[in-house]
Amino acid sequence: MLIGMLLPMLVTAQTDQLWFANQPKKSGWCNLYSDLSKKDLTEQVIEKELAGFFSAFNKVKVSSDKVANFHIIIDDQKKDNLGAEGYKLYGKLTAPERIDYTIVAETPAGALYGVYAFLRMKKLGAEIPVLQDSNGQAIVERPAFQVRILNHWDNPDGSVERGYAGRSIWFADGKINFRSDIETYARANASVGINGTVIDNVNADPKILSPEMLQGVKTVADRLRPYNIKVYLAVNFSSPAALGGLKTSDPLDKDVIDWWQKKVDEIYALIPNFGGFLVKANSEGLPGPMDFGRTHADGANMLAKALKPHGGIVMWRAFVYNPQGGDRAKQAYYEFMPLDGKFDDNVIIQIKNGPVDFQPREPFSPLFGAMKKTQTMAELQITQEYLGYSDHLCYLATMWKEFMDYPTFHDGKSVIETTLNQKVTAFSAVANTGTMKNWCGYVMAQANWYAFGRLAWNPNLSAREIAKEWVMQTITKDEQTVNTICDIMMQSREAVTNYMTPIGLHHLMGWSDHWGPEPWTSIPGAREDWLPRYYHKAAADGIGFNRSSKNDGSNAVEQYQEPLRSMYDDPQLCPRELVLWFHHLPWNYYFNDGKTVWETLLDRYNGGVQQVEQFQKTWASLKGKVPELIFTEVTKKLEVQLDEAQWWRDGCMQYFQTFSDMPLNFTPKYTMEQCKAKLRTKSYLERQKD
Ligand code: GCU
Repeated sequence: MLIGMLLPMLVTAQTDQLWFANQPKKSGWCNLYSDLSKKDLTEQVIEKELAGFFSAFNKVKVSSDKVANFHIIIDDQKKDNLGAEGYKLYGKLTAPERIDYTIVAETPAGALYGVYAFLRMKKLGAEIPVLQDSNGQAIVERPAFQVRILNHWDNPDGSVERGYAGRSIWFADGKINFRSDIETYARANASVGINGTVIDNVNADPKILSPEMLQGVKTVADRLRPYNIKVYLAVNFSSPAALGGLKTSDPLDKDVIDWWQKKVDEIYALIPNFGGFLVKANSEGLPGPMDFGRTHADGANMLAKALKPHGGIVMWRAFVYNPQGGDRAKQAYYEFMPLDGKFDDNVIIQIKNGPVDFQPREPFSPLFGAMKKTQTMAELQITQEYLGYSDHLCYLATMWKEFMDYPTFHDGKSVIETTLNQKVTAFSAVANTGTMKNWCGYVMAQANWYAFGRLAWNPNLSAREIAKEWVMQTITKDEQTVNTICDIMMQSREAVTNYMTPIGLHHLMGWSDHWGPEPWTSIPGAREDWLPRYYHKAAADGIGFNRSSKNDGSNAVEQYQEPLRSMYDDPQLCPRELVLWFHHLPWNYYFNDGKTVWETLLDRYNGGVQQVEQFQKTWASLKGKVPELIFTEVTKKLEVQLDEAQWWRDGCMQYFQTFSDMPLNFTPKYTMEQCKAKLRTKSYLERQKD
């Protein structure tokens, strides 16, 4: 075979190279024939990637089976129905000992994804099918979602909301100022199929639309375009008034409509492939159409109409709640269901996975499947706002799969299926990148970025398969070590949920920074729905939020389809993992496994701590088997994780004990006073500022 064996690989640990760290080079040659012109920027990326992989790389001018052994074919006739981003990939035996590879696509983007798939398979040692004739079983892939997009919560001043990896990769001092190695970001995204990025915070600064800023945004768009990544912007709904000097931002006002149209035209003149807007409106104090007596649909459609002629879309967020609106978990449904069917066809409603926020575990948002005449998309959170920042090893793909695969009982669809088969389909997640050299603040946090991209491309992949791919490309290819690391990853989210918010508890974290346990917080004058006590309702009579249909419950269960509604409504049938989400239960209430609520909480909190201890032991056994740099980083982070897991357990259980008056079965590391004092020590965020 001319494309020969992999050279023995030197395992490096350049974690700033993300999943390109563990890069083998192939000793074989690659003579590329490509239908694409060299002027095409995506074609140049393809060449660069292939040249980086093969020890000998040539671009051949004329297609000739004798010369080229790697073909990129553009299928103008659309024979294979590959769509805008799909590809077909196969090998062919063209002479004894010679396999030529072909990637067929309808577009340069499709070819690019085919190349990344080829490289990934080669790196993983996976078989690429070798056909006897071109009608055989080639690999054919098309992405599940059209828009696979990261949301950066980055502010023009360079800070990152809920960022744990340093400062913004896009902004500094009020201007665009992107990381000099932004190509690594672009490659990383393209290699897993991410094709969009919202570069600014949903809590958007009107300034993002100023002419100077847009010039900067254009430079970002130009850098990302070769990698088939479109730039989108989060916009502030009151921009016409705040930036444009208009008297109002009422979406039905003619001047406001004109202002947005001109602004959109200005953007497209600079950035012809601009993606569209993301909008957080009438949420957490941000302006929106309801300030003018209009609806979310009025606001979203006005923007959509301005974007439509250019092919842009509006991602309108359903993350809305207000302190007067009753149970927070029910409010988005109340606000959006009456608008079902009222949104334009280039509007898509962006819904967080859970009805409250990105907690370690929530039921899925009942809007999925319920909005039958409206396009919807999921918003996940890669950055670990509520899951230990970039300090805790917490592989999120297991959580995302749990959410995606959950049956909604709407037309027999799983959650993720309810967001497919629309004119516009999309899947989004809040990014975890920053200026830290390794991008994510923790090598293990890079896996979550990788996993999001892979799931956006193919939601049917399993969490373990993805973990394995990532470990092999980032850390090691040694099979036993790969399996050991995957085992830790696969258990990690459950461990975090156990020591933070088991069996349906939620929102117990520290005020403002959302760091550490603070179920006891009482902030004078604070919004009640921002305080943990609103959610846990611990008292002498028990713990948990009664969202059932009984005993004055909020009846949030009614927003779910049968049989989920009845299942959630009954504490014996409700999945144990969610029981305190839906029920307020006495401390000595018995579950059908013979354990009380109190005993179950003890089991979970202790169990979570023990899981982290086990991760430490297992990880220690990998010394010498993984790159030293990674070994040391994970070892140190696991120490922090264990300490914080103990802190969570000690803080929560000792606080709950003040109501339950029941015994602890462990010796706390921290007293209550120490738990509270620890919150006042420097949080991770503050440490970063030093
Ligand atoms: C959470 C998060 C905020 C963020 C908000 C949102 O509440 O803590 O920082 O702005 O979600 O998603 O809009």
